[in-house]
Amino acid sequence: MRILLGDSEIRDGVRRLGREIQAFYGQKPLTIVGVMTGSVMFLADLLRELAMPLRVGVIQARSYRDGRAGKLVINADFMPHIAGRDVLIVDDIFDTGQTLFELTDQIDHLQPKSVRLAVLLTKKGRKRVGMEPDHVGFDIPNEFVVGYGLDYRDAYRHLPYVAILEEPDRIAAERLAEEAEQRGTTDQESAAAAKRE
Ligand code: IMP
Ligand code: MG
Repeated sequence: MRILLGDSEIRDGVRRLGREIQAFYGQKPLTIVGVMTGSVMFLADLLRELAMPLRVGVIQARSYRDGRAGKLVINADFMPHIAGRDVLIVDDIFDTGQTLFELTDQIDHLQPKSVRLAVLLTKKGRKRVGMEPDHVGFDIPNEFVVGYGLDYRDAYRHLPYVAILEEPDRIAAERLAEEAEQRGTTDQESAAAAKRE
């Protein structure tokens, strides 16, 4: 694991973003929609930098790259009412931008007064859509990163820094994911066996 952004660098970046967002909206009420699960740390830290009247909700977006190619599945059960409101979507990373492009499009259908986008990270030269985030923490090189909310197969989200995932870390995460999958199957098998008895 190679640290790309340490915790104090992240803290400074999030503060700067907070000031930028505050300067844009002033004291106008704002509705923040955090995209789960990757934005969890960024969202919590960014919220503490804002002083306008604020409502917060979350939405879950999952994209299935393999199998159901490019299909974005959104769970909006925990999203606040946004019609007629100024909305700021908060996410961890804008990579190709496909996910946030589709998400913004779906949120537009709910008729908010305005929609803007804040992300912690963008990756250099990866954008594939005709939109860009309005507030960006850091523009990073084209490397796969984990930590501060970002995961590889659901591991490493809890790290307080952003690090480049190296081969041994990838293998370790894969082993964990496979073990968890196997345990899941075994649990189901024993539950089924218990039912039969
Ligand atoms: P998109 O290409 O902008 O649609 O990015 C889709 C999703 O891929 C992001 O929301 C992240 O969940 C994930 N992703 C892209 N790059 C990285 C990375 O470097 N680390 C962890 N997740 C990533
Ligand atoms: Mg994500």
